[in-house]
Amino acid sequence: MKKLMNLALPIMCIGASFANADAIENRIDVLLETMTIDQKVGQLALRDFGTYSAEQLPELKAQIRRGEVGGFLNVSFSSVDDNAFAELQKIAVEESPQGIPLIFGQDVIHGYETIFPIPLGQAASWNPELVKKGARIAAKEATTDGIRWTFAPMIDISHDPRWGRIAETLGEDPYLASVLGVAMTMGFQTDDPTRPDAMAASAKHFIGYGAAEAGRDYNAAYIPEARLRDIFLPPFKAAVDAGLMTIMSSYNTLNDIPATANKHALKTILRDEWGFDGFVVSDWNAVMEMLPHGFARDAKHAAELSANAGIDFEMYTDTYQKFLPELIEEGKFTEAKLDQAVRHMLRIKMRLGLWDNPYPRGNRDTVILSDEHRQAAREAARESFVLLKNDNSVLPLNKEAKIALVGPLANVPHEQLGTWIYNGDKKDSVSLVPALEQYLGGNESFTFVKGLEYSRDTSTQNFNKAVEAAQQADVIVYVGGEESILSGEGHSRADIALPGAQQELVKALSETGKPLVTVIMAGRPIELGPVLDQSDAIMMAWHPGTMAGPALVDVLYGDYSPVGRLPITWPKGEGQIPIYYNRMATGRPATEDNYTLIGDIEQGVFQHAPGNSSNHLDYGHEPEFPFGFGLTYSDVDYSNLVIPSSRVALGETIRASATVKNTGKVQTTEVVQLYIRDLVGTRTRPIRELKGFQRVTLAPGESQAIHFELPTEALAFHNQNMEKVTEPGDFELWIAKDAASGLKGRFTVYE
Ligand code: BGC
Repeated sequence: MKKLMNLALPIMCIGASFANADAIENRIDVLLETMTIDQKVGQLALRDFGTYSAEQLPELKAQIRRGEVGGFLNVSFSSVDDNAFAELQKIAVEESPQGIPLIFGQDVIHGYETIFPIPLGQAASWNPELVKKGARIAAKEATTDGIRWTFAPMIDISHDPRWGRIAETLGEDPYLASVLGVAMTMGFQTDDPTRPDAMAASAKHFIGYGAAEAGRDYNAAYIPEARLRDIFLPPFKAAVDAGLMTIMSSYNTLNDIPATANKHALKTILRDEWGFDGFVVSDWNAVMEMLPHGFARDAKHAAELSANAGIDFEMYTDTYQKFLPELIEEGKFTEAKLDQAVRHMLRIKMRLGLWDNPYPRGNRDTVILSDEHRQAAREAARESFVLLKNDNSVLPLNKEAKIALVGPLANVPHEQLGTWIYNGDKKDSVSLVPALEQYLGGNESFTFVKGLEYSRDTSTQNFNKAVEAAQQADVIVYVGGEESILSGEGHSRADIALPGAQQELVKALSETGKPLVTVIMAGRPIELGPVLDQSDAIMMAWHPGTMAGPALVDVLYGDYSPVGRLPITWPKGEGQIPIYYNRMATGRPATEDNYTLIGDIEQGVFQHAPGNSSNHLDYGHEPEFPFGFGLTYSDVDYSNLVIPSSRVALGETIRASATVKNTGKVQTTEVVQLYIRDLVGTRTRPIRELKGFQRVTLAPGESQAIHFELPTEALAFHNQNMEKVTEPGDFELWIAKDAASGLKGRFTVYE
């Protein structure tokens, strides 16, 4: 065991010399010289503290003392040691051979103790600043405990709302997920990750996890290379270009190769093409899961496969510790590769300034759940709500109207928090009932009847009470959807309708003839079925987090006009899945008049009479709601599309503008979206692709010209040779409210 006194000075300088990349690399060279193989392998061990019993702690501490642990996850909810962060770190820093600090990571996904809307909800804000602020606040809170690394952003692209983890994504579109993923990354990391309140971000899951077949979590993914590069990889590339520090590989196989041992993804694309220089962490137990995958023969083989593929940090399992030294002796792995992995680890620890600030910030009382944080969570929640329907302007509600508040999710502080809320506590969370009581000042103008005990409840025994309350009221507000547990990891659904007897309850309420506002809390789009017609208004609230109640009151009563837009296409039912707006053109596209719906087909007609186009006989060809869709309490008119120069040379910039006018009676925020279509390509091209968006707030009557600039590189895609190129030719362009409408123009790119 070498402990060199002359290391002390460079160690102290590490944080201060963050700006100097050479100093970091030199410092790593010096450290590597002093480390034994076991200590190097130790840096690659990420232990799950949550899995240790009190009896195992002494041996664990001895391992840290020997320099054989690189970091921990899940320390903050330890049941065996309240002060673990500081204690474990002290051993690493003061007693281990090189004094290399541990890195503490955790799933801080949409807040630490102040819980923000689930990421899909945040994405519905189409507001990068809001997403960044949410991550900043989460980092400020988590670092008080010593967590300097988060397993976020999740920027998997998915076209399948059955997949439970769609809740954690930033939507279906590569451009939107790139913009928001970068915002979240920067919120966590800041421009100066040595700040004690900064966290290293980990973009996940690399790669293809969101394409799990049938939306069944962990299932195989098949993605052709060009599609991988055009749709699934761009958010990761954008995050890497923005300075992302770490990446997590995924559980799935991609084209039959587990992502955990996928050299093509982890080496060729990530390191060689993109030049990523941070570390790659495997997902929890994923190295060992290559055994049930039938890809690794045993634990030693799994270590060999993942280490050689480029997994640096092994999460939870200990195959590296057990087998890398002998794999090196056997020539199946090399010390040079080991050094490279350790370099990735140390580089990130140094960039985080862990040598200067290894310990928890410790100022919990002033930071956690502060008024400022709760207010930000409230703002984020109300910006995430998407108004899907609002017949006869039933919303906003009139403060004088008598409300029947019904539904299994109207008053359940836990269920509004959503998936991955390890440190979120229901006691800090405000539901709609107390928020309404406070807003209405206890004037008895609302009655609350649950109707169903929980979202999956099938008992109709309390329907009468709910219907009675509805009959006495001027308007019914139904709050239903999915409990938190119905989305998230491992929680996919084959049937995405409202669970339990909720549809029956909504039907019973609608039969009272009273105006019915349906608020849905869920981790995915829900098949609405008859609920769509039965409800006068529908608002998607996702899982809004700690401040769901006050945020709902803000929007339901019109103190704040809804601004959310769908970051995902909303299907009519599972039969339309996979569903996404940027689909490829078919040779027989459906239009309004080239197909017949099932109920309209005459008996015994000639085979082709109902039409032969790309549609479903029962659902037609359109989704329930398109990507980008969302109503407000106002109306915005689009006019005057101008493309000043409709012929643009390759390498130049396309300019387009349109005028948007608030024709309604209240201030509103419009999300003006720019789409293009490449009309002919050497690979078929999507029928629309989002290329930009701008949020603009307009007073009643106000109009503004919105200008977009699009360099021709932004039109590039991967051709048959996997070269990213912009092909000259004709394009359509829309400035639009959503992916299914808009002012349409054309331009040509020439060489
Ligand atoms: C999930 C990851 C998560 C990790 C650590 C895994 O099961 O797939 O997203 O970061 O656990 O909790």
